[in-house]
Amino acid sequence: MMKVLVTGGAGYIGSHTAVLLIEAGYDIIIFDNFCNASLESIKRVEKIVAQKITTIEGDVRNRDDLHTVFNKHKIDAVIHFAGLKAVGESVEQPLKYYDNNVNGTAVLCEVMAEHGCRSIVFSSSATVYGDPHSTPIDENFPLSATNPYGRSKLFVEEILRDLYISDNRWKVILLRYFNPVGAHASGTIGEDPNGIPNNLMPFIAQTAVGKRDYLSIFGDDYETHDGTGVRDYIHVMNLADGHVKALDKIENFKEVMTINLGTGKGYSVLDMVKAFEKASGKKVPYQIAPRRSGDIAKCFADPSYAKKVLGWEAKKNIEEMCVDSWRWQSNNPDGYN
Ligand code: NAD
Ligand code: WQD
Repeated sequence: MMKVLVTGGAGYIGSHTAVLLIEAGYDIIIFDNFCNASLESIKRVEKIVAQKITTIEGDVRNRDDLHTVFNKHKIDAVIHFAGLKAVGESVEQPLKYYDNNVNGTAVLCEVMAEHGCRSIVFSSSATVYGDPHSTPIDENFPLSATNPYGRSKLFVEEILRDLYISDNRWKVILLRYFNPVGAHASGTIGEDPNGIPNNLMPFIAQTAVGKRDYLSIFGDDYETHDGTGVRDYIHVMNLADGHVKALDKIENFKEVMTINLGTGKGYSVLDMVKAFEKASGKKVPYQIAPRRSGDIAKCFADPSYAKKVLGWEAKKNIEEMCVDSWRWQSNNPDGYN
């Protein structure tokens, strides 16, 4: 049985991936500093899979924390979710982002190598495509960053490529996620942002449940079918499954693999509002507001490479994303609190 360290495993994507990894027969250890998560998410995952999960509180920037884990457990591979992800905050506090995301990954890889573990699946993002010249976006599109968060993802991609060049025993898979939404079908785990959500889906869900008065739609004059921004929303369980498929194959790959995880379909903000209203039976009041700085008009994936190399495809549609997100939100109006 392969032993996998899941950094950031208490977080939104990590907790959903933990469920599928265990169901697929992987032995997992969760490592998280709980800066943006709670122990409760892991308790809920334990309930779903009906087993205990070894959980270690620690920081990926802290060598001692990591050595403790690697000394105790013979880890075969790491899925590295741990990091900070708030774009606006990254503009205000860039060093915090470079420290957590870039330095954190460098320290993690250094300790991994010292323990002879050289397989890593990294959480990259569609943000590395910056403002794309066209859609759909394939993996060979030019890369750029529009904020420190995005730049931290670009830097880590480069660091991991350099690492492979320095020692081709490394197995590296860079997964570029599009916009993860939805929740596990049990409605017991889901996305639980701190404070006012930055992202669309949790904001819509909190508006539908009555925690927010209305949604501000950031611009209705983009060159899209209805003027609002278009994104590739992907169900978090499908995204999680992409990680299982990546791990299943990681030992076979002979080069650094860079793979989009998206559906290939683009939906606008207004499409999402309508779909959520239908799924929840609730009204989602909204107002048109000015564009949000740094936003792009359209972003959706060409997901064909993932199908080719991982045999993976995102199957869940926008209705299922909204239904599952609503089940989580309505059952847990205050998240894990
Ligand atoms: P999340 O905040 O829910 O999860 C990240 C987890 O990492 C949290 O549990 C947090 O406590 C932990 N963490 C943060 N810094 C740490 C550190 N220094 N040491 C140990 N643990 C630390 O976010 P998520 O949405 O689950 O995202 C997971 C990963 O995927 C992140 O790297 C994020 O940048 C990336 N990503 C997310 C999205 C998205 O829209 N959610 C899109 C693309 C990429
Ligand atoms: C989606 C659409 C907004 C909120 C961000 C990061 C990206 C990745 C995913 C991590 C846009 C509109 C939003 C609101 C709105 N994260 N919107 N009102 O910006 O595509 O991507 O999260 O890697 O790096 O940049 O996602 O959910 O914030 O926005 O109208 O209150 O919804 O303008 O068109 P985004 P989002």
